[in-house]
Amino acid sequence: MRPCVIAVDGTAASGKGTLARRLAAHFGFAHLDSGVLYRLTALGVLEAGGDPGSEADALAAARAIDHARAGDPRLRSDRVGAAASRLAAIAAVRAALLRYQRDFIAHPPGAAPGSVVDGRDIGTVICPDADAKLFVDATPEVRAHRRWQELAGLGIARTEQQVLDELVNRDAADRARTVAPLRQAPDAALLDTTNLGIDAAFAAALALVKPRLAAKLEAKPRG
Ligand code: CDP
Repeated sequence: MRPCVIAVDGTAASGKGTLARRLAAHFGFAHLDSGVLYRLTALGVLEAGGDPGSEADALAAARAIDHARAGDPRLRSDRVGAAASRLAAIAAVRAALLRYQRDFIAHPPGAAPGSVVDGRDIGTVICPDADAKLFVDATPEVRAHRRWQELAGLGIARTEQQVLDELVNRDAADRARTVAPLRQAPDAALLDTTNLGIDAAFAAALALVKPRLAAKLEAKPRG
């Protein structure tokens, strides 16, 4: 039996990363932020002076990802985010990053009994048979405010309007692309975090996910 998987997809800065981390801690699962793979690829292309729209440049960077740089604050800049969104529309790049995600799901690090993976296409493409699926969203203004605060904390100075424009443009591009577009899987539960703080959003996520995992977790008691 494949380990448990919770797929957390959603719009940019919707809070899916925070929710995924908390769900992983709650269940003792491993967490994968798949957006980091695209951002690491983008950083690699930009540092090499390449073009994020070029399949050759993006593929070379995707194949040379340095996972040790996953915490690099430069990954969070909107330049890197926009470049990530551009190369994420290239089918060959997505194919190159797919194996890492499927391997993570099949063998969660630390022999964890499951994983929580967040991104755009986890419930639709990477793991369509995930045990539980969430689609996280919030109004663009609320998401921009949260991301603006997060960036300020990292010392990245942007106006809230700049952050809003970047999020809206990136979501539109992510929804419009032909390969693995951003969309809610038919069997994903929608979680709107517009009016929810972190604790309330986590409680809501847990209430949606728990019943879907119950049967599998009972079949495989831990400890
Ligand atoms: O943190 P935020 O929601 O702003 O973005 P992210 O999850 O780090 O993803 C950055 C970009 O990578 C997205 O705008 C997508 O274009 C792309 N991405 C994707 O195509 N598929 C994923 N599973 C994750 C990210």
